[in-house]
Parts: sequence; C-alpha cells; structure tokens
Amino acid sequence: MRIVLGVGGGIAAYKVASLLRLFTEAGHYVTVIPTEAATRFVGTATWEALSGNPVSNSVFDDVHQVNHVRLGHEADLVVIAPATADLLAKAAAGLAGDLLTNTLLMARGPVLFAPAMHTEMWQHPATQANVETLRSRGAAVLEPATGRLTGTDSGPGRLPEPEAIFEAAMALVQGRSDYQLPLAGRIVTISAGGTREPLDPVRFLGNRSSGKQGVALAVAARNAGATVRLLAAHMDVAPPAGVEVVRVDTALQLRDAALDAAAGSDVVIMSAAVADFRPAEVSDTKIKKRDGAGDPMIALVRNPDILHELVERRNAAGRAGRQLIVGFAAETGDDDGDVLAHAEAKLQRKGCDLLVVNHVGTDRVFGQDTNSVVILARSGAEPQEAAGTKADVAAAIVARIGLELERVSPRP
Ligand code: CTP
Repeated sequence: MRIVLGVGGGIAAYKVASLLRLFTEAGHYVTVIPTEAATRFVGTATWEALSGNPVSNSVFDDVHQVNHVRLGHEADLVVIAPATADLLAKAAAGLAGDLLTNTLLMARGPVLFAPAMHTEMWQHPATQANVETLRSRGAAVLEPATGRLTGTDSGPGRLPEPEAIFEAAMALVQGRSDYQLPLAGRIVTISAGGTREPLDPVRFLGNRSSGKQGVALAVAARNAGATVRLLAAHMDVAPPAGVEVVRVDTALQLRDAALDAAAGSDVVIMSAAVADFRPAEVSDTKIKKRDGAGDPMIALVRNPDILHELVERRNAAGRAGRQLIVGFAAETGDDDGDVLAHAEAKLQRKGCDLLVVNHVGTDRVFGQDTNSVVILARSGAEPQEAAGTKADVAAAIVARIGLELERVSPRP
C-alpha cells in the first residue's frame, strides 16, 4: 500500500519515527512529508533513512514529478501524526501552502489524523470545530490519549501510541471510517507479575508468575488508546514503553498501590499473582542455621484479597456499573469440581465483572509465551474462549473489556 505520512510540528514527531517503522515493516511504501516546523523536531535525514524515500515539503522540489498532485492522488492512505492544532485548522480550511496541505486536498483515499497538542488547544472551540468539519467530510480523527504532556501538565492531548495509530490506520483502510480506538480516553490499571513476601532480608516466598500476560495486557490496552498504569510486582520481562509503571514487591504494597490507582480508573485488571499468605514474622536479620536448634517453622498469615476489596470499595463509592473490574483465576480441576465450576464460584465470591480463567499445571501458563483462557462474565453472558500468544489473548481480553465498558459506561 502507498502511504503518505504527514508529520506535524510538535514534540510528538519523534514518536512518529516508530510509526513509520511499523508501516515499512508491514511492507508498505511510505512517503514522509514533514512540515517545516516538524523538521525542527526531527530532521529530514531521519525520515529519509527510515522510509527509504526522498523527503521534502516544498512544492518546488522535483517539480517535473508534479508531487503536489501525484502524492495525494496515488496514496492509498494519508496519515497525519502528530496532527497539530495548526495542521487541523489548515486541513479544515483547505489551505494549500505547502506540499503536505496540497497532498491532503488531492487525497482520494482515507485520511487519518492523530492529534497531539496541549489540552487547552485540543478543547478550544476552534480546534473542536475543525475536528467536526474534518469528520463530517469523512476523515478519521482519533481522540488524543490522556496522560503526561510535554511539560509537567497532563490531560487529553497526548499522541496515541504508534501501535494504536497503526491499528486505527489499518482499520480505516478496511473501510471502518468511524473507527475510534476502543479504550480511547479510558484509564486502565493493570497489576502484573508475582508478589514476593519476605522472610528475612535475603529470602522470600514467591511464585512462578512471569508477568508476561500482564505486560501483554498493558501493551494491548495502550494500543487500544488507554492511559495505562502498570502495577508491576516481580516480573521476568520489562514493562512496555508508553505506560506509567509503579513498582511493588509485596501483596500489601500492591494493595496500597491498587486501591490508590483504582480510584481514578475506568478499568482495573488484577492479573498479578498475589500471594494469599505472607510469613507472620519477618526477621530483620538473616535467619541462620544453628546446630541443635531444630528445623525452623514458618507461620503464615492471610494477605488481604485485593480484588475483593477493590470490588467492595467501588460498590461502596457508588461506582458499580461505572468501573469495570477484571480478575484472573488460575484453576486446576479436582474432586470438588472442574475448572469452570471452580471459576464460576470464584467469580461470584470475588464479585468482579469479568474473570479470566487459566487452566494451570506445572508446565502450563507460567513463563510460557502462549496461553488459553476462558472469560466469564458476571452479567451471565456465555463464556468466551481465547487462545494463542499472550499478545493474542491480551487483545481478546481488551476487546471484550472495550465492549463491556461501552455497555456499562458509554463514552459521552
Ligand atoms: N488476588 C488478589 N488478592 C489476593 C489474592 C488474589 O487480588 N490476596 C487476585 C488475583 O490478582 C487474581 C484473583 O484474585 O485476579 C485470583 O484469585 P485467588 O483467590 O487468588 O485465586 P487462586 O490463587 O486461584 O486461589 P484459590 O483458588 O485458593 O481461591
């Protein structure tokens, strides 16, 4: 596919280098047209090297090729990222002062704008009117992501992550012009990895969770347009870019972080493997083996059930139906019931909206790159199966969350 990638003059231009890579790695032929201002942030050499094509924003370069007409005409898709307030205004007004705006006027295929600017600029009636105009003409304008902006401020105005723009672009080409990222504007808290419960300064009780599924969920939610807070217990994998990370060690630390983050979240996903028990006593000094002292015993006490507490707090705050809480269950069948029977009972016990059920054995799930789950819903909907890589499973869970959220708490 021939793609024109128009780059606006905003600090987020640097993220568009990754978007360009996603396009070229997927086999697309990309011509980058940066605005004059964009080249103040990322130079022409970067765009030329990454796209493998010459780069200009002048209608007077290579005039014999009539680029100001040809590029827009030949493009199967035009993507503008970051779409600054200035570029949106020029596009809405139909100005044609440079190669990029000429190309927009000549474009015959779908056009996608991925805005990025400060919250005030985005919410300004002038910008909103321009967005309306562009949408009414059939262009797709993504909602900007919410989160940290260039300075110390935060709010709606962040460029959606490159993967999210890529996904929206592909959806647009498939004819879904009203496509909005399913979790755009939503705040999603995800716990991942396994907690470690200390015995002494060097030892702990832990579990085999690698954090891979939680990280895959964070990536999928981020790509779906959400602002993601990852509460990371011990993980074998690095947290992804573009998410806010809070490190925790123990179940009690995770509890505090989860309750704190949940207060402002639309979705909470408890995919962490939380220790149900912790040593009753933690020694300040390393426990020594001493001849004749006998074998030590470890007494355990229950940890709070964070998932259950999140549900109770939400309900007490009157946010039931507005915040979606998702639990995970690792189950094996036994004499008391099969995997689904245990999971169904857990869903009722915990009171969460969705329960993602893993069938575990020592060689299954933990640390593996693939997974197979069943998603149970409190609403009583049919159990939904999802299998594949952990990224595939995460995408299925996030898609389901998007649908559930739209049902319980539609976007304005
Ligand atoms: N969870 C939690 N707080 C705990 C323990 C678990 O929030 N103290 C969450 C997990 O993150 C997961 C779900 O609860 O979302 C798992 O439920 P749990 O009761 O721990 O299930 P199992 O570990 O499978 O335990 P059991 O079957 O013994 O109840």
